[in-house]
Amino acid sequence: PPAHATTTSRYAFDELSWGNDTTHHIAEGYDADILLRWGDPITAEAPEFDVMNQTAAAQLQQFGYNNDYVGFTPLDGNPDRGLLCINHEYTNEEVMFPGLGRQDAVDFAGMTAELIDIEMAAHGGTVVEIARNADGKWELVRDSPYNRRITPLNTQMTLAGPAAGHPRMQTNADPAGMTVMGTVNNCAGGITPWGTYLMAEENFHGYFWSDKLDADGNPDISAHPEPKQMKRYGVPGRWYAWGKFHDHWNIDLEPQEPNRWGWIVEVDPRNPDATPIKHTALGRFRHEGAETCVSADGKLVIYSGDDNRFDYQYKYVSNGTVTGDETFGSSLLTDGTLYVARFDEDGTVTWLPLVYGTGPLTAENGFASQADVLIDTRLAADAVGATPMDRPEDAQPRGDGTAYIMLTNNTKRKPDQTDAANPRADSSFGHIIEIKEDGGQHSATKGTWSILVKCGDPTVTEVGAQWNPDTSENGWFGSPDNAAIDADGRLWISTDQGSGWAKTGKSDGLYALETEGEARGTSKLFFRCPVGGELCGPYFTEQMDTLFLAVQHPGTDGTKNYPGFERNSTFEDPATRWPDFSPTMPPRPSVLVVTKKGGGKIAT
Ligand code: FEO
Ligand code: CA
Ligand code: CA
Ligand code: CA
Repeated sequence: PPAHATTTSRYAFDELSWGNDTTHHIAEGYDADILLRWGDPITAEAPEFDVMNQTAAAQLQQFGYNNDYVGFTPLDGNPDRGLLCINHEYTNEEVMFPGLGRQDAVDFAGMTAELIDIEMAAHGGTVVEIARNADGKWELVRDSPYNRRITPLNTQMTLAGPAAGHPRMQTNADPAGMTVMGTVNNCAGGITPWGTYLMAEENFHGYFWSDKLDADGNPDISAHPEPKQMKRYGVPGRWYAWGKFHDHWNIDLEPQEPNRWGWIVEVDPRNPDATPIKHTALGRFRHEGAETCVSADGKLVIYSGDDNRFDYQYKYVSNGTVTGDETFGSSLLTDGTLYVARFDEDGTVTWLPLVYGTGPLTAENGFASQADVLIDTRLAADAVGATPMDRPEDAQPRGDGTAYIMLTNNTKRKPDQTDAANPRADSSFGHIIEIKEDGGQHSATKGTWSILVKCGDPTVTEVGAQWNPDTSENGWFGSPDNAAIDADGRLWISTDQGSGWAKTGKSDGLYALETEGEARGTSKLFFRCPVGGELCGPYFTEQMDTLFLAVQHPGTDGTKNYPGFERNSTFEDPATRWPDFSPTMPPRPSVLVVTKKGGGKIAT
């Protein structure tokens, strides 16, 4: 019998075999159908995708690049019709543009104004209506009035909360400090209890440009008015050349612009005319996601990690309670307390409030107002003594006061920097922490924590992995990233090993991870990605008969490590042409819909 058969699994499916090849795989008895690909027209007027003749105008009406978060909110209470909300985190020039793109790492020669506008139009988010057809399969409703793109090229946003309008949020283009052009690097996200769409701004620093370089060619921020803050946030990252053509991405021209990025954005998917809101009360950092829940006391709680080595886990707790009458722009997102976690050796987690005037958050320490505390969230968290973590990715609450924290990896942690909550030095594979908040209340300021699993190959002693021994060779994984909890309270984990996947040989995938009883810590593989792709989503509908998955950047990450494909992927020579497998089409990031053959709840 298979090694995982000794305890009763709460997930009724036969696990997939591990591997890595040019296409995706799903457990037997399930369909994983392509729903939306980069470039697919999403409005009635949108032009068909022509990869050899891309334009920004076309991309603004087509599905964006590198789908990450996927959320679903039913329309009119009908489970067979609803709005799908998808983040487009970033772009891969090397496989997007035919033989074009940057030709050097410093000046980005080759990146024209038009290519940059296409990249900007491919970022952001998408809202589309989808519905089940007569065969029970989900389809895009292309002529739906709800369908729209949200981009950093042309979607104006407003600021709300304690930092809105603050002098440090003002720029030449926006002297009031109240409006920002778009959102960027939207990684994971969330859906609020009132059905709005939260987009987390993660690696915003990478988009900022400066022409001021030191002798080594690195950005020189010594003349910037806020060098300490810029350094703590890694600004300017200079990953993209947008600042050569758009002044607000150039910190030499707009030194305060970075303060307007790194927030959580709320979008009303039901009103295409509603201006999205950047909510400053939730803090400014490299937000991985923004998963929401309602605490037993009725308060709205949002968990959000700062995905950076040695950065922190946060949660936001509203002052008011969820009544069911909330709508877009609810004060529950402007009026509340942001906390940061300290994980103590005795298994206690303490949530430290980031409130101006408390503890060290005073003017003497550089925080003159709550706006300063929020704009400089990382510095405030440093000051109160939060625990530096191994890259907090998604944090997934379950309504019962439990939350799962994905700590993806941290190869920079030294042996003398380990602690109980980050127990491994040079961690290539990460771990998952389970939090149980006091009294089962997500709003609690204290709780207990334990390590659910330490990831990596359990057969290699030096890895130091910790799994339930019933986990098979297919079931263990490395680098947890996104997570979901289905309506039955079961945990699902998707992975992002990046270019380091050759350390496991496995593709990224979706795993069912037991949390309860004797089976706790047992993992099973349900879906795996094509080579070089990372798995995002996942999102289960309330009925659990549909699971949305997002395959990000297929054919790119670490493809030089793929046996038989020892090369860097390019437009002309990708490691896979998934999902089209057309000789004239590069790989395309795509959203898939998983359903059980014949229908029914997944994995039951
Ligand atoms: Fe965009 Fe932390 O992954
Ligand atoms: Ca990603
Ligand atoms: Ca992620
Ligand atoms: Ca990741």
